Amino acid sequence: MKLATVSELLAWATKNNRAVCAFNVNNMELIQAVVNTADKMGLPIILQISKGARNYASMPYLVKLVEAATSTIKIPVALHLDHGDSFEICKECLDAGFTSVMIDGSHLPFEENIVLTKRVVEYAKKTGASVEGELGQIAGIEEHVQNEYSLYTDPSVVAEYVKRTGVTSLAISIGTAHGAFKYKAPNPTLRLDILAEIQKQIPNTPLVLHGASSVTPSDVETINKFGGKIEKAYGVSESVLAQTIPLGVRKINIDSDIRLAFTAKLREHFHKNPEHFDPRQYLGAAREHVTHVIRRKLESFSK
Ligand code: G3H
Ligand code: 13P
Ligand code: ZN
Repeated sequence: MKLATVSELLAWATKNNRAVCAFNVNNMELIQAVVNTADKMGLPIILQISKGARNYASMPYLVKLVEAATSTIKIPVALHLDHGDSFEICKECLDAGFTSVMIDGSHLPFEENIVLTKRVVEYAKKTGASVEGELGQIAGIEEHVQNEYSLYTDPSVVAEYVKRTGVTSLAISIGTAHGAFKYKAPNPTLRLDILAEIQKQIPNTPLVLHGASSVTPSDVETINKFGGKIEKAYGVSESVLAQTIPLGVRKINIDSDIRLAFTAKLREHFHKNPEHFDPRQYLGAAREHVTHVIRRKLESFSK
């Protein structure tokens, strides 16, 4: 399997003042939708796998699906572990051929975060893989932590963290939130002032934005129109998110918008085609619908 490292993709993004989109994937349909859309657009992407994705599909399936998806395409694709919560899970993914891992020690005290992250960086050197660290905590549900409020990244400690750990990139908290239930009020904004200060401290470190789904209103409406019950919520718009790119954000994580799009099409499809029972009919329709979200993200952040 010929995969790119995230470092290579971040270097491309830095040179061109763009960000690489990192999409969470759990199954064949999502992997195909992401890889084929990006390939058509000629843009690099990161496929990222969470612990939840591994529990759902299992590592061998996910790795083989990515191998199959990347066997015929021209664009560079990296395979990344999202929110790794221990040295062991990072090691397992690196041994399985992932070209990048995130070690998320953001909930730990500063010194413990450094020790854990440094251990992963040392191990990743063996395979030449990249390592993403995190400082600050973003609101919403991550697989191991639920945060009600954001704990913004403190710009005064980022330089020390990067220097002592040797991370490739740094995930930061400036007001985005995980999940589909982000903000109750419309037009949430970001702390671009904190971001600018972080960039001043570590101008050569690519920054990563988690929780970057915008909670696509049309997909939420479709879900609710066809029998779903999704609470009304707002994410940061793509145009506001794009303002982070000139300030050093080079990787943008998207999961929830894809989930919403997939679910919206499934609900609509079943409503309009009550006689269908062949999974290829409805999963194929959902796979096709998801490509519109992927295209929109790539247009907004990578072009
Ligand atoms: O940030 C977390 C991602 O959205 C992964 O979510 O743990 O439900 O797969 P998951
Ligand atoms: P969203 O829930 O906003 O899609 O964020 C995904 C993410 O940050 C994955 O790490
Ligand atoms: Zn995340």
